[in-house]
Amino acid sequence: MEDVSREPDGKGIEGQTPVILPGKTIGILGGGQLGRMLAQAAQTLGYRVHVYEPQAQCPAGAVANREVNASYDDTEALREFARGVDVVTYEFENIPAGPLAVIAPLVALYPRAEVLHTTQNRQREKAWLRTSGFPHVAYAEALDGEIAPAVAQVGLPCVVKTADFGYDGKGQMKLTTPADVEQAVTIFRGRRCVVEAWCEFSCELSVIVARSTTGETRAFPVAENIHRHHILDFSIVPARVVPAIATAAEALAARIAEKLGVVGLLAVELFLTTQGELVVNELAPRPHNSGHWSLDGCATSQFEQHVRAVCGLPLGSVAMREPTVMVNILGDAWKWAAGKQVGEPDWSAVLAEPHAKLHLYGKAEPRVARKMGHFTVRAADVETAIARARELQATL
Ligand SMILES: Nc1ncnc2c1ncn2[C@@H]1O[C@H](COP(=O)(O)OP(=O)(O)O)[C@@H](O)[C@H]1O
Ligand SMILES: [Mg+2]
Repeated sequence: MEDVSREPDGKGIEGQTPVILPGKTIGILGGGQLGRMLAQAAQTLGYRVHVYEPQAQCPAGAVANREVNASYDDTEALREFARGVDVVTYEFENIPAGPLAVIAPLVALYPRAEVLHTTQNRQREKAWLRTSGFPHVAYAEALDGEIAPAVAQVGLPCVVKTADFGYDGKGQMKLTTPADVEQAVTIFRGRRCVVEAWCEFSCELSVIVARSTTGETRAFPVAENIHRHHILDFSIVPARVVPAIATAAEALAARIAEKLGVVGLLAVELFLTTQGELVVNELAPRPHNSGHWSLDGCATSQFEQHVRAVCGLPLGSVAMREPTVMVNILGDAWKWAAGKQVGEPDWSAVLAEPHAKLHLYGKAEPRVARKMGHFTVRAADVETAIARARELQATL
């Protein structure tokens, strides 16, 4: 999966000087765990990191060379941030368009603002998949805040999703019965939505692709993802699918990254339908939870690859070292009594396991459904890794 499409002048798809060498400064918009792990990878390569995040004491700020706490509509703070760095990237999708418009004229911003504009809104993303001819779940738009006609078009069962600001299943509702439809009509009234046909899948997959400023493109091995209450629980690599599906998923993701013109990472979430077809669920132009396995299970982590891509360095090997399972650790794992957090999970079994690695994000306050960390487990075969991961998860 290596398509190096340098332009004839050798300058790369981004024009003049695509290479930002170690020692320079990377600016990250957003200060969550993705930004934290991105900052750590950048620093390992010798870069300096500045983080811009509205909320103080964020996970990424704790490891950054500089943390700026200002709101996303503070154009002066954004301009100053942009002037202090050599390239800007972001770690989450819900950044309003305004800041990007302020930053882009001052310093390279990757992935570009147009990519974010398309992928941060489900209606635009789906319309783009449709017009670009990529396989996706059948859907209808409900942009006037009235979902009934869209539900009628798609049929039951279906799932209503708000067009903006959804993550971890927030802003979504599955509809099975006419009574659900009635309820949903009220809940979603006045909100821009898409209504998707319910997809009967045999598993969920994701492929993370990196595309550098030079046009070099590489896809990480496909991950199999298991969700619990709409939140990622396990990512399993290699995915337990036949090799033809794995190859097709990786190739599909690379085509999408190229067509979208991404520089940096693109995560492509897929359903493998019970009919054996791959359909795209959603896209994210950033590091992705399902890529955390790569920190311990792959020659290059997704975070390092993102740094390489936006700086124009050669991309790293995406060879899997060993079958790896990643397990998310949510705030639910903390001990709770009467709605109060009363104790830390017991880390001893994970820490004692030689083939496991614990990653905690340094978040001060555990909350139910909040991503606090993850651990990975490696084994010679994937079933052993899964079984061990289940055992360790139960000990927390
Ligand atoms: N059309 C669908 N058919 C079946 N399951 C779905 C569908 N849409 C979403 N889901 C389930 O809900 C999860 C979350 O939905 P997704 O659209 O990926 O939103 P997000 O990850 O932004 O919360 C999916 O990973 C999948 O398990
Ligand atoms: Mg998703």
